[in-house]
Amino acid sequence: MSVTMRRLSRAAIAGLVAAAALTAAAHSAEAADTLGSAAAGQGRYFGTAVAANHLGEADYAATLDREFSSVTPENEMKWDATEPSRGTFTFGSADRIVDHAQTQGMDVRGHTLVWHSQLPSWVSSLGASDLRTAMNDHINGLMGHYKGEIHSWDVVNEAFQDGGSGARRSSPFQDKLGNGFIEEAFRTARAADPAAKLCYNDYNTDGVNAKSNAVYAMVKDFKSRGVPIDCVGFQSHFNSNSPVPSDYRQNLQRFADLGVDVQITELDIEGSGSAQAADYAEVVEACLAVSRCTGMTVWGVTDKYSWRSGGTPLLFDGDYNEKPAYGAVLSALGGSGDPGDPGDPGDPGDGTLSCTATYTRTADWGSGYNGQVTITAGGEPISSWTATVTLPAQQSVSALWNGTPTWSGNVMTVRPSWNGTLAAGASTGFGFTVAKNGSDAAPAVGTCTAS
Ligand code: XIL
Repeated sequence: MSVTMRRLSRAAIAGLVAAAALTAAAHSAEAADTLGSAAAGQGRYFGTAVAANHLGEADYAATLDREFSSVTPENEMKWDATEPSRGTFTFGSADRIVDHAQTQGMDVRGHTLVWHSQLPSWVSSLGASDLRTAMNDHINGLMGHYKGEIHSWDVVNEAFQDGGSGARRSSPFQDKLGNGFIEEAFRTARAADPAAKLCYNDYNTDGVNAKSNAVYAMVKDFKSRGVPIDCVGFQSHFNSNSPVPSDYRQNLQRFADLGVDVQITELDIEGSGSAQAADYAEVVEACLAVSRCTGMTVWGVTDKYSWRSGGTPLLFDGDYNEKPAYGAVLSALGGSGDPGDPGDPGDPGDGTLSCTATYTRTADWGSGYNGQVTITAGGEPISSWTATVTLPAQQSVSALWNGTPTWSGNVMTVRPSWNGTLAAGASTGFGFTVAKNGSDAAPAVGTCTAS
């Protein structure tokens, strides 16, 4: 009874807030000088993980409210926080975050319904039949409470093992219910809140590897059998041992090609300065290059509260100053920072013309392939660009479109044919067909220069 009452009042609030959100979005679309508004200009959300206990800190709340258009409760919706004992739901901290987000016109990602970690011990000790019931009750309890208020739910988190085997991870759910628990969780979730996008979320699946192949096979199977799944989340926790994979975009694209949205759900990149900034820009560009990549979330507002605070992996330092990574993300999103702020490379007015070039293989038929290079202008409009592509020695190019090549050995320098003029942050590209002549290696794309 009390759950139903809360649900009704929450839904009513959500309706009122939706109107406010429209106004906020319309306002910020003009400025495009924050992460959220710049991302909105690209049809994406830009979110952050949020901890309820920091919302009372003025600088934290001000940075959150100014910059982000989506929030993910960092811990507050996990099983240990929401159903610490069976059938007793506690939503206080999660409600604080959802209420805050709604008054600011931000979307909310739900994280997470079924996960082996931060799981109360009462769940792990249940027998199979009880566990199945408890899992479904938990999904219904959370999704019912927030029905209509969550844009995407991480229904199942981290169900696959690391390493080369592509196997499922041992967990109470896997060990007692078998592979079918994931499918069952998604079916229960669809019925509980038909409006929410249902996501599978994992880490070390950001590039093409055995683990992401296993998730890919599962998603493909779900799509072929009509199991309800709408999106795949890529956590994207990066550091020097686990850098941004070179095939990140290709991996996002192959999942998108299965007919699901993709989202970058927990982005953080350890490091500092221009190297960290460049990595962040690469991630944002990868998402923007994949039309079904609907948004990005960084895993925290400030380095000082990061779960990896030693690695200073976020966009704002401990004093809420914008780091170089912030400027790089903003300009990759096509936004414009405060002119003259050294943290904002590519600011309008600073006169620096820049572009980036990224490569993907768009088709492969064994003896040959098609390559596509996407050119994206930095924070200034440009009137021309130049990109170099170095082909592996054996390979030869038989066709090229939307660009004009000149050759020096196996290095092809490409300039625009008709598509030199780009607005700040806008993209174009050229494509080419390659005969492999025995080598399947990828070409290397050099630095893009703009004029
Ligand atoms: C982390 C939180 O950031 C920490 O505060 C908490 O102590 C542990 O969990 N993958 C996930 C997230 O899906 O829920 C994790 O969040 C980070 C890794």
